[in-house]
Amino acid sequence: MSGKYVIGNWKMNPATIAEAQALAATLQSINVDTVKIGCTPSFVHIATAQEQLKDTPIWVGAQDVCALTDKVGAFTGDVSAWQLVDMGVRFVLIGHSERRTYHQECHKLLANKVSQSAKVGLVVVFCIGETQEEYQAKTTLMVLDEQLTALQGAGIPSSHLVVAYEPVWAIGTGLTPTLAEVEMVHRHIKQNLTAQGLSDVCVLYGGSINNNNAHEFAQSAWVDGVLVGGASLKIDSFAAIIEAFA
Ligand code: PGA
Repeated sequence: MSGKYVIGNWKMNPATIAEAQALAATLQSINVDTVKIGCTPSFVHIATAQEQLKDTPIWVGAQDVCALTDKVGAFTGDVSAWQLVDMGVRFVLIGHSERRTYHQECHKLLANKVSQSAKVGLVVVFCIGETQEEYQAKTTLMVLDEQLTALQGAGIPSSHLVVAYEPVWAIGTGLTPTLAEVEMVHRHIKQNLTAQGLSDVCVLYGGSINNNNAHEFAQSAWVDGVLVGGASLKIDSFAAIIEAFA
């Protein structure tokens, strides 16, 4: 696969295996080879999505991974990086704001998740973003720099790392920063990563991307793709976003 990324974050959707199968089946009709396309079903729907998408270039990813080991062990409720790779999973989301907020995931825990993923060659999509208060206080760059410290020493090679900038206040709200703001932030993220020895890392934008605003973001050389929540659950909007990035 070449080109920019369009990744659908299904979150805890849909409700049933039948619906997950139907959603994955709609992706089969997408015939675009100039975009790296991915989706992240919930754990219980990964196998179904894999089966539907096995003959397509679309990558299936996971929304979380065990921080404690990359293999197996007495960790009730966890799913390891090894188990994900064994299922054919290619990438994992780490650091999404919903995990940080609802599960109190801290820098240390996230660093461990990155490091377990790195051991087995999973691609990590590392999500960062500031809250509305932090945005209003103009501390965005400081907040992101702190979040990016989780990558230091985690052993993830730049070839297996993608960063997604997702302002918390833009997720699911219909609000987005201006393209100029996103470009400034992405430039800063790339500088930070390069200073950490992680060069040429793709930086995606996420937060209320839809078929109306995707074109604007797609045109920017600073936006290497998008992480899409709500609009990835309907084939019309997801296909239109992919088309914008093609
Ligand atoms: P949204 O979610 O596109 O629904 O705003 C994005 C995300 O949380 O990754």
